Amino acid sequence: MADAAELLAQIRIHGTIPRHVAIIMDGNGRWARERMLPRPVGHRNGMKSVRAVVEAAIEAGVDVLSLFAFSAENWQRPAVEVSALMSLLEEYIQREADELERQGVQVRFLGELLLLAPAAHAAVERVVRQTAHCTKLRLNLFVSYGSRAEILNAVRQIARDAAAGKLDPEQISDATVSERLLTAGCPDPDLLIRTSGEQRISNFLLWQIAYTELFISPVLWPDFGRSELFEAILDFQKRDRRFGRVDA
Ligand code: IPE
Ligand code: IPE
Ligand code: MG
Repeated sequence: MADAAELLAQIRIHGTIPRHVAIIMDGNGRWARERMLPRPVGHRNGMKSVRAVVEAAIEAGVDVLSLFAFSAENWQRPAVEVSALMSLLEEYIQREADELERQGVQVRFLGELLLLAPAAHAAVERVVRQTAHCTKLRLNLFVSYGSRAEILNAVRQIARDAAAGKLDPEQISDATVSERLLTAGCPDPDLLIRTSGEQRISNFLLWQIAYTELFISPVLWPDFGRSELFEAILDFQKRDRRFGRVDA
């Protein structure tokens, strides 16, 4: 693989930068197993990749980076793994909050945050407040998130508004739904990357990825870094996005 600086130069020559990149960060467990290490060690090494990818996204000029960190379904993993992941979340915030603010990263958390332990929830609120003024990159961290639940909440709100006579069912549009999702105000992802070779969406951003370009990387998340993100963006730049129309 070409080195990161060279890949970044190529990206800049081409010009079209995806505004919004989303990543399903997968493969921490397999990374640990290959080394005969416990799964949480894989998750810990995955934190380094988060740091690298945030920096790379800023360098490339991406506006929004969405990272799927913990799904609604992941609560069903063994309690020791869940608590290791929650401690890592707190540790990540503790360690990175000042640096994220310095880099101009506005951090948001999207998901059922009330299910988090009180200490983790407090840490989340702290970093969101601390970085609220930042404008360089918007970082959406999806924690305790499931896309169907997100859509169902929107549907419930819409049904309530319609029942109360505040909304005419005939006027319900894409925007009516989009503005009731947790991603309200964010452009839809241009590029969705999944690491570790899995070819599925696993209940991530189902509504928002209608016309997103998909990139499956074989690399396990703890090995994913700047170069890998730049490779994915370069691949995206070669795509012909037609949105159902014909070529120009
Ligand atoms: C991704 O890695 C992190 C989370 C889903 C929390 P995994 O833990 O799913 O790793 P694999 O898929 O078992 O290798
Ligand atoms: C998806 O990965 C969720 C996150 C990356 C946070 P999983 O490892 O949980 O997904 P499946 O079980 O392979 O579909
Ligand atoms: Mg997995």
